[in-house]
Amino acid sequence: MSRPYYIAGNWKMHKTRAEAAELAGALVAQLKDGKHKYLVAPSFTSLETVGAIVRGTNILLGAQDCAAEEQGAHTGEVSVLQLKDLGVQTVILGHSERRHIYKEDDELINKKVKLALKHGLDVILCVGELLEEREAGNAEAVCETQAVKGLEGVSAADLSKVTIAYEPVWAIGTGKTATPEDADAIHAFVRKVIAKLYGSGAAEKIIIQYGGSVKPENAARLMAKENIDGALVGGAALKAETFVPIAKFA
Ligand code: 13P
Repeated sequence: MSRPYYIAGNWKMHKTRAEAAELAGALVAQLKDGKHKYLVAPSFTSLETVGAIVRGTNILLGAQDCAAEEQGAHTGEVSVLQLKDLGVQTVILGHSERRHIYKEDDELINKKVKLALKHGLDVILCVGELLEEREAGNAEAVCETQAVKGLEGVSAADLSKVTIAYEPVWAIGTGKTATPEDADAIHAFVRKVIAKLYGSGAAEKIIIQYGGSVKPENAARLMAKENIDGALVGGAALKAETFVPIAKFA
């Protein structure tokens, strides 16, 4: 079955509003004839600005995280209700920087996943192993646990609004990319995990992005793999000149 390609840019904690607006404008112009599905995820502070620029184009607006609660006394957190108010369509959850720097666990991430889906947002759920976990032969087990726990209580209907991003932590921002073969093997494994949970039809349909030092030079080789359906791009998403060739990989 052929799945659409989905290329997303995670801008992480970069860019002022003016810088974000400049990049968003360039992407709108240069991707308007792009054939795939696209998303940009700026910082919370730039969501409104970037949202106004991408609205009505073929680029979706994403947030990089959300709170696990709808509202209340949660200083510093941002609610799904506030994201929806800004026109956000998708939220990235369980990013390895949230897991490892900010100590988010699977239970918290699962709460966020369910809350975002309940409010009609799409979700990109990130999974991925640390280098020591890979070296100990535990890459699959780690990804399975993160996927199973992250999706606990998510209905089959809601799964259609979920994209998985496989981001091996050792490949993020390091310039080290998983080989297309290694990445594809984990993607195929994650698809099997989804098949066990939701059946083979759902597993065939779910989009699994790869993330970790995706660059214009390696994008096409990664995307050529059967189970790699797109990319979640960090560093190379910060400039149109590097994101556009990835988004238009041939
Ligand atoms: P890099 O592309 O900078 O390795 O980051 C990947 C990532 O974490 C995207 O979410």
